[in-house]
Amino acid sequence: MHISRLAITSGYSILLIFAPMKILMVCLGNICRSPLAEGVLRHKVLQAGLQWTIDSAGTSGHQPGCPPHKLSQKIAKINGFDICDQVCRQLEPNDIDRFEKIYVMDRENLREAKRIFGSKWDPSKVDMLMNEVYQGKNMEVPDPWYGGEEGYHEVYAMINKACDAIISKYTILSHIS
Ligand code: 4NP
Repeated sequence: MHISRLAITSGYSILLIFAPMKILMVCLGNICRSPLAEGVLRHKVLQAGLQWTIDSAGTSGHQPGCPPHKLSQKIAKINGFDICDQVCRQLEPNDIDRFEKIYVMDRENLREAKRIFGSKWDPSKVDMLMNEVYQGKNMEVPDPWYGGEEGYHEVYAMINKACDAIISKYTILSHIS
């Protein structure tokens, strides 16, 4: 944990303490949803001056080495960040050791992650992304692969909310006077 910023406002000192986090976003293909989630969270982390590690992976590994879907790239650009340099990769068993928190987009991703992690499975590390906004509801981020651009905007809006919640949750705000 490190102290990243000290702000003084009207007689109060506000100490912001940031625990560096390592977060992995996971979907089926690592083509549409998780690259966007990686990009959104990385963008917010940079804006907040944090030094977190953010990555993404897919449970299927159908298209290793491919860039994100053109529409995910387009949505990212519209919203002020770039994901065109990302490269698709498959989720690996040792990802559970390398990351402190792993967020999956839907229930199928959760089942597959459990299968891939096998005996290393740790339920305290893996959760559905939208549980950061709607705790315990297991709401899914829908797969936009078979639809049009509108689906990608919907996915972005959901991911954006969840990433705001993640930043707030893992940024400890303490007041010292
Ligand atoms: P993603 O979407 O899981 O959000 O990356 C998909 C990407 C590729 C395929 C399915 C879903 N596919 O069948 O190749």
